[in-house]
Amino acid sequence: MRTRFLAALAALALSTAALAACGDGGDAGGSGKITLGFAQVGAESAWRTANTASIQESAAAAGIDLKFSDAQQKQENQIKAIRSFIQQRVDVIAFSPVVESGWDTVLKEAKDAKIPVVLTDRAIDSADESLYVTFLGSDFVEEGRRAANWLVEEYRDGTDPVNIVELQGTTGSAPAIDRQTGFAETIAADPKFKVIASQTGEFTRAKGKEVMQAFLSANKDIDVLYAHNDDMALGAIQAIEEAGLKPGEDIKIISVDGVKDAFVAMTEGKINVVVECNPLLGPQLMDVVNKVVAGEQTPKRILTEEGVFTADQAAAELPNRKY
Ligand code: AHR
Repeated sequence: MRTRFLAALAALALSTAALAACGDGGDAGGSGKITLGFAQVGAESAWRTANTASIQESAAAAGIDLKFSDAQQKQENQIKAIRSFIQQRVDVIAFSPVVESGWDTVLKEAKDAKIPVVLTDRAIDSADESLYVTFLGSDFVEEGRRAANWLVEEYRDGTDPVNIVELQGTTGSAPAIDRQTGFAETIAADPKFKVIASQTGEFTRAKGKEVMQAFLSANKDIDVLYAHNDDMALGAIQAIEEAGLKPGEDIKIISVDGVKDAFVAMTEGKINVVVECNPLLGPQLMDVVNKVVAGEQTPKRILTEEGVFTADQAAAELPNRKY
């Protein structure tokens, strides 16, 4: 009798420990697996499509039950998705914030529900770092600096003004803010570099083309296009060609991401340089999720490693591109 009582007590202690390890989230999927709620930005770019695929494939490979939501580039949709994950009592919430600010209230709700939050790809602007366990993604300011470093080197010998147009990402998003900051601070050292127009192309091909058309009709002497992502650069290439100009020659093009289509454009001489931004965050994210559920420490910032590719490297690199 006493042995049976002790065995029952031990079983109870074990199941309580298992629940505690699940961040108090319980078993939202009812499958005994870890449940991850992921609130994605949308499907605005080839980068994003690759990012989504990486997360879905990695969750399946890690045996993690993934609840996936697409916010269609709207913050209110992401907030709704996060609230729904809290209600479902998932073990971990991860998301890539559409914009930087306005997250404190919903993340406080997740914290109160004892559900850990992981930021992926994009950071938030909050004074309260306790609202998330870690931020996994690129250094977008550094990407902006790398884009500008190529430009500085390319125009090293000249003194003539260099007129630059900039296609920004989604207004208020971390990559748009940071890529602009890193680029601007680097070119500021030489007054010949002038950003003569800068507008959002919302990280999409269609908008990139539309805004580039407007830039071309308003400005006669554009020397350089700096696009915050490949999709906007690819849309802009269409606008430049339709205007009877040669992308990569008449207007030099600097882009960010490194998707396959951009590498193809580089082999054709239409993009001059691409600063890589790695979307394949799935394996690292699942590793973090497993650690968080196991109660292990994770660094507050996990950086992804990235390079810079110029047109002369494009043909050799193209077969290696995974996205
Ligand atoms: O947050 C990463 C950015 O979002 C990528 O550079 C862009 O292509 C995407 O839409």
